[in-house]
Amino acid sequence: MTLLHITGARPNFPKAAPVIAALAELGVRQRLVHTGQHYDDRMSEVFFRELSLPQPDVNLGVGSGSHAQQTAALMIGLEEEILSTEPQLVIVYGDVNSTLAAAIVAAKLGVPLAHVEAGLRSFDMSMPEEINRLVTDALADLLFVTSPDAIAHLAREGVPEGKIHLVGNPMIDTLLAQLHRLNVDQARQNIGVGVDYIVATLHRPGNVDDPQVAADLVAVVHEAAGIADIVLPLHPRGRAVLEALGIGDHPRVHVVEPLGYIDFMSLVRGSLAVITDSGGVQEETTVLGVPCLTLRPNTERPVTISHGTNQLVTTHSLPAALAEQVALRREQPDRLAPPTRIPPLWDGHAGERIAHLIVDWLDDRYAR
Ligand code: UD1
Ligand code: UDP
Repeated sequence: MTLLHITGARPNFPKAAPVIAALAELGVRQRLVHTGQHYDDRMSEVFFRELSLPQPDVNLGVGSGSHAQQTAALMIGLEEEILSTEPQLVIVYGDVNSTLAAAIVAAKLGVPLAHVEAGLRSFDMSMPEEINRLVTDALADLLFVTSPDAIAHLAREGVPEGKIHLVGNPMIDTLLAQLHRLNVDQARQNIGVGVDYIVATLHRPGNVDDPQVAADLVAVVHEAAGIADIVLPLHPRGRAVLEALGIGDHPRVHVVEPLGYIDFMSLVRGSLAVITDSGGVQEETTVLGVPCLTLRPNTERPVTISHGTNQLVTTHSLPAALAEQVALRREQPDRLAPPTRIPPLWDGHAGERIAHLIVDWLDDRYAR
């Protein structure tokens, strides 16, 4: 009996780590596939060095391309992998192209599929991730959800209740497991900023691909730098456009390479606030109690607003919202204090819940 985990892009790694560890505790044989969707050291290997992730058994080396090129290459590589290893279950994470490709290939080969982080919906079909989520969830046999709203979305799409399991958030398992290693002072000294700084991450196609849209972002980041230093670990996707627009041409904007997990989460933890368009960062700031200003018109993670620190902003509303949050945070006696509320089951044990559900499901299916 072998389980096949499919990873490949940065957000997959902190989600897969606790699931793989919990299944290993239960003595399950597993194989870890890295598709190679992300390949820079700072987008990939650094997570294997820093998190308790085993080295991948195989790297398919798929790399970058248009959606069709990348998804096609992923499907070809994954079909060969699944045919040669004959897993009893394929496990996919999140909403990236590696997730979508593995879901389609597994379903067409008749191999059962588990989706970790199922049921999130932005209802914005201009996001490639929304298409990936819809297709993956339609094909999955086991759907592990991080928040109650996801159950309702899946039910509305006709997914039988018995396939859906509210398990908490494995991304947060990783954060809580690494909390003792976070070192705010070290991380900010590495960058060269004082105790008052803001972290920013920007990589959504809707924000960084079109130079006209990106120009507004650059202007608002420069305006935000009037409030405090900005540390911007720049995702490779937007690098060329944002740098051409002069994102780093402000003395208080510190543009750096993507950071390793420990440095990044350390910086987020000690920050005044975070400006982002990332999915995972909305969740991590909620659990750290750090104000999060999300530069998007919608979020597939509304629980980070209802139970957390997140708010949606536009380039118009960002400066005032940021000034307000920073003023409140400056009054806070202990920036590292945990928040008073977090979403249900975001308690560090999602990986264990998923592992037990998978083992029970396999026993049930293959013992028959
Ligand atoms: C992907 C995911 C997105 C996720 C993000 C997390 C899809 C459709 N999108 O977006 O949901 O939020 O990862 O980081 O799967 N590049 C490098 N080095 C790398 C990887 C990428 O330089 O290691 C550059 C290439 O120019 C590439 C571009 O980034 O064309 C985009 O990479 P890609 O994996 O296609 O999508 P992301 O924007 O990273
Ligand atoms: N992250 C990191 N270094 C960085 C930026 C992000 O370690 O410089 C981590 C962080 O835990 C984040 C995760 O990578 O939640 C996924 O990030 P990304 O924003 O790329 O993906 P998304 O969640 O938007 O799909």
